[in-house]
Amino acid sequence: MTAETTEKTFPTPLGTVREEAQDCTRCDLYKNATQTVFGEGGGDARVVFVGEQPGDKEDIEGKPFVGPAGRLLDDILEEAGIDRKKTYVTNAVKHFKFEPRGKRRIHSKPNAGEIRACRWWLDQELTHIQPDLAVALGATAARALVGKQVPVMKQRGTVVESAEGIPVFITVHPSSLLRIPNDVDRRSARERFTEDMRKVKAMMKG
Ligand code: URA
Repeated sequence: MTAETTEKTFPTPLGTVREEAQDCTRCDLYKNATQTVFGEGGGDARVVFVGEQPGDKEDIEGKPFVGPAGRLLDDILEEAGIDRKKTYVTNAVKHFKFEPRGKRRIHSKPNAGEIRACRWWLDQELTHIQPDLAVALGATAARALVGKQVPVMKQRGTVVESAEGIPVFITVHPSSLLRIPNDVDRRSARERFTEDMRKVKAMMKG
């Protein structure tokens, strides 16, 4: 096999893809964000968690799910017996999209074009990791993985196929729990999400 065919046969190492993603201009979101927030975790992870996009804290730190939603996700994964360090955690869109409001930056939902543009990076993450299972945390992640709109509340708890044939477990985004004002409702939504994560744990091989 020549060097040229070797290069074509094996994909660029994930570390190199991560570096390339730092200069991404595939959509306009790079213009206002601090940096690209690429996925994190073991290249040998068997499960990949996909969120929507980095939030304010993630944008500053350059790491996915390190803000309030990330802390909640960490707690619930632990309760469900999933070690985050053995998973890969990423987002459908890798730049923070926001509206400035005074000194604050208010999260703004990525649109279909931005999700499609960023699929380039998610595709490479999935190609390298080849997980047994992807977990779509909310509608944006489900849309990115499946390639079309997914009715999350209807399909929650079920497994569908990603565009490349990877099983995708559908659930809600952990930040939706943080937005529930009533304590009783929030506790029961948290319990339901924990149940979803226990199902994910049961589907994980090893
Ligand atoms: N919400 C997401 O979808 N991803 C993050 O990384 C943080 C919050």
